[in-house]
Amino acid sequence: MGITKRFREITALREIDLQISNGEYVTVLGSTGAGKTTLLHIISGILKPDSGKIYIEGKLVNDIPPEERYISYFPQNYALFPHMTVIENVAYGPNIRGVDEAHNIALKVLELVGLEKRADSYPRELSGGMQQRIALARAMATGSKLLLLDEPLSALDAILRIELRYELRKMAEELNLTVVHVTHDQAEAMSVSDKIVVLRSGVIEQFDTPFEIYEKPQNIFVSNFVGEMNFYEGIVIGENEIGNIVEVGGKSISVGKKLDIQDVVISIRPENLGIVKGRKGDGNWIQGTVRWVSLSSGFLLFNVDLFNDREALVKRFSPSMKEEISVNDVVSVYFDPDKILVYPYPREGLHKALEVS
Ligand SMILES: Nc1ncnc2c1ncn2[C@@H]1O[C@H](COP(=O)(O)OP(=O)(O)O)[C@@H](O)[C@H]1O
Ligand SMILES: [Mg+2]
Repeated sequence: MGITKRFREITALREIDLQISNGEYVTVLGSTGAGKTTLLHIISGILKPDSGKIYIEGKLVNDIPPEERYISYFPQNYALFPHMTVIENVAYGPNIRGVDEAHNIALKVLELVGLEKRADSYPRELSGGMQQRIALARAMATGSKLLLLDEPLSALDAILRIELRYELRKMAEELNLTVVHVTHDQAEAMSVSDKIVVLRSGVIEQFDTPFEIYEKPQNIFVSNFVGEMNFYEGIVIGENEIGNIVEVGGKSISVGKKLDIQDVVISIRPENLGIVKGRKGDGNWIQGTVRWVSLSSGFLLFNVDLFNDREALVKRFSPSMKEEISVNDVVSVYFDPDKILVYPYPREGLHKALEVS
């Protein structure tokens, strides 16, 4: 609660309030320098906060040293001991804690990652992917109920990274662990978490379920940071039955909300925009010309130059497209009032509001 940490003039964490329940899988999502590692250091006790209180299971632990917090902390790029076999590596944590059954625990966790047959191999005899699996197994086997993982998958190639995401999640569930997993990869955060902490320059921008973060981003930064988003600066010019009307580049868009502000930014995800060939009437349709089309894993992406001097990125599930739309076609883009998010125009300007630091 209220955690602040400074390194000379840099404030790495500012008034962080975060409550994590037992058994939750929480990811901390932020770009480089956001304060993710510092946060793990403070939870684990490696670093002391300048102010604020840390509780574990209801107990104030500010003055409890790391080794008495019963937390496993795995730093970024941690490696296996090269001179120990796989099983010795995995049993290392439970062993130093004096757990009699270290060997059995280690075997069980190795089974979870499907590598029990390699128990007697040395790390150098295994592929990079297997080594990483074993490193994760070692983290899981320590016997601590709270596990802190600093970018555990960032050193892996794309396919393995995706595979191990689900394994991590599954292991945590089977062993009933509480996990704080730091990452800069939003897809990773979206796919494994019960909850995501979006951290930016030492400040929590949102702490919520992946669904809420995607569907109801609390501010412009979060809406841009997670998933893709179209942004338009606008001015409220009137109202109708369903809400207010916002002018964007000379075109009126009905936003489906009553607003009490004048200068706004409206945003809408590419998959929530409609697109048809040709010209449609008014009522939240804006015409434009298709600048490029690209196919990406089952989806079509259209970049449209709208006639109000704005651009739109439109995403459609390709089999659902009834007609072919090609470059240079004139199209109409539909802004569904229910899908439009509206934010107050940021005092610091739109560009600054979207910057990661
Ligand atoms: N030991 C340190 N001394 C000085 N500055 C630090 C130290 N550790 C981290 N910082 C600064 O604190 C900020 C947050 O760092 P860090 O927690 O490592 O971010 P992340 O893990 O999100 O990349 C950065 O600006 C970083 O330069
Ligand atoms: Mg870090």
